[in-house]
Amino acid sequence: MTSHDAPGTAIVTGASSGIGWEYATRLAARGWGLVLVARRAERLDVLAEEALNKGAAAVEALVADLGSPDDLAHVVERASGADVDLMVNNAGINGYGPFAEVDPALLTRVVNVNVVALTALTRPPCRACWRGAGAR
Ligand SMILES: NC(=O)c1ccc[n+]([C@@H]2O[C@H](COP(=O)([O-])OP(=O)(O)OC[C@H]3O[C@@H](n4cnc5c(N)ncnc54)[C@H](OP(=O)(O)O)[C@@H]3O)[C@@H](O)[C@H]2O)c1
Repeated sequence: MTSHDAPGTAIVTGASSGIGWEYATRLAARGWGLVLVARRAERLDVLAEEALNKGAAAVEALVADLGSPDDLAHVVERASGADVDLMVNNAGINGYGPFAEVDPALLTRVVNVNVVALTALTRPPCRACWRGAGAR
């Protein structure tokens, strides 16, 4: 974005901490509208208030587990909205340990969040394709 572009609406996944939180507050300070996605609703509420104070045009909290096919379909649908101009595809699980020692159930969640959700959200118009998708 250049300084001449009018800000629009951005979706930030994994907004409840770390890099996603930082993206959200910086976009807010530039006047963007925000759709904040993560599982921790209370963190999103705190962020929403901070973002509005910094100048966000509007803020919407979308509480979702991107490892859940139903929640993912909901977020993909929101990301397909005509008002969405920017996707910060940031949510992810990290620090889960050496690959050979990871619990298979955790590895499944890692793949669903870090790969399946990321891919689905990169291609939002195909929203129906992703219902029921994911490693099991
Ligand atoms: N920090 C680094 O040095 C580094 C390096 C390389 C890559 N990355 C990647 O950059 C991204 C952000 O990193 P970070 O350090 O800011 O991580 P972080 O502080 O752990 O934040 C991860 C974010 O992802 C969200 N998230 C995790 N699982 C989720 C799920 N199932 N559904 C929805 N949201 C989920 C978390 O929100 P909830 O817990 O509220 O759901 C949180 O907001 C990650 O994808 C990470 O893998 C980071």
